[in-house]
Amino acid sequence: GILLVVTIVFGYLVGSISFSYIIAKKIKKVDIRQHGSGNAGATNTLRVLGVGPAITVLILDVLKGVIAVWFGYMVATNDLGWFPVLGGVAAIIGHNWPVYYNFKGGKGVATTIGVLSTLVFWPALIAGLIAIISIIFTRYVSLGSLLFVLLTPVATFFLLPYYDYPLVFIYLTFVVAILSLWRHRTNVMRIFNGSENKIGQKS
Ligand code: G3P
Repeated sequence: GILLVVTIVFGYLVGSISFSYIIAKKIKKVDIRQHGSGNAGATNTLRVLGVGPAITVLILDVLKGVIAVWFGYMVATNDLGWFPVLGGVAAIIGHNWPVYYNFKGGKGVATTIGVLSTLVFWPALIAGLIAIISIIFTRYVSLGSLLFVLLTPVATFFLLPYYDYPLVFIYLTFVVAILSLWRHRTNVMRIFNGSENKIGQKS
């Protein structure tokens, strides 16, 4: 009904707020999408602006996903699961294709962290720890991002006997994994041919 539409529109509008774009404009007067990898996200903020701004962007972009899911829970009437899930997906889509910035945004990883850690906390935590270890060893943030989104459905499946997640949460983990894989397709190609950027190295 109308409340589901409101949830999706709210998620999309919140997700569309590009903190990397805003912060890069504010402190360096540049369009983040014309520097580094050209991606409007925390990783590219690290390249272009440094650690402090990158952590700020990461936290704020994660919060967009959390808020969109919470909003879904708040307005949910009967079928609880669909509201937070569709609100969360809408926020990720907003981050990737933002209405305020010519639909050119980021890859949705931080916002996906916000959505998944709110809905499937333990699977997201396990996948996230593996991703962080991988980033420390390989220095490929994109590879860590992909491990996170691909391992969350796997961990969700293994934890199903203990947490009994609604089916729609399981669909969600697959949908966001496929979406993220698609957004990272050029990163995947660069990983395979050895030209992917490593953090702490000039791009
Ligand atoms: O968060 C996006 C990250 O996985 C890759 O970013 O800028 O290296 O393409 P980037």
